[in-house]
Amino acid sequence: MLRLRYHGHDCWELDDANHRVLIDPFLNGNPMADVKPDYFTKLDAILITHGHGDHVGDAAAIAKKTGALIISNFEIVNYLGSQGCKGHPLHIGGGHQFPFGHVKLTIAHHGSTGPNGEALGNPAGFVLTMGGKKVYHAGDTGLFMDMQLIGEAWGPLDAALLPIGDNFTMGIDDAVRATAFLKAGINIPMHYKTFDVIDADPNEFVQKVTAAGRKAVVVKPGAEYIID
Ligand code: NI
Ligand code: MN
Repeated sequence: MLRLRYHGHDCWELDDANHRVLIDPFLNGNPMADVKPDYFTKLDAILITHGHGDHVGDAAAIAKKTGALIISNFEIVNYLGSQGCKGHPLHIGGGHQFPFGHVKLTIAHHGSTGPNGEALGNPAGFVLTMGGKKVYHAGDTGLFMDMQLIGEAWGPLDAALLPIGDNFTMGIDDAVRATAFLKAGINIPMHYKTFDVIDADPNEFVQKVTAAGRKAVVVKPGAEYIID
């Protein structure tokens, strides 16, 4: 069992009843977020896809309060380490078994500068194995053919969390094509409506994925999807 709770934008809280991890905790300043950083009291790890402020978000404050391990690329782990956070660096193509599960970094086509223009390595996605389930969080990315590799070599995927907002990432039609490459059990949209320029309709994504014979569902901020 793995529970995926959505906190808006790219922020997901995953728990298998024994462990809890948080991905891309952008909460303060996020109009889509249903919780504030204080909501989190017990976390094993915080996974960060890339250096942009809408992904690093409140990671440092939450990590210091909860003792969560920062898991990200080498540059972001060093950057947050200089702010007093403990971390475990990975890089693209590499994975590691942690007490809560396995994390592998995948490619993403995007940028990764920090809030003051710091070079924070390459952007990434994650394949996370936890609670006996496998989830792909794409991070911010355009569509790429290697999503086939992620689905086949590093799958089978139980769920794919995909950006649909366009402008900074894939739009709806590219994300629908991504679902064909990934072949995940369920596809869930993210990275929409937070800003005016990413005002995509998640129901349109679900309709198009469903019409193509695959499964998708909208999980609203504050709601959850359980993989049995
Ligand atoms: Ni970004
Ligand atoms: Mn973003």
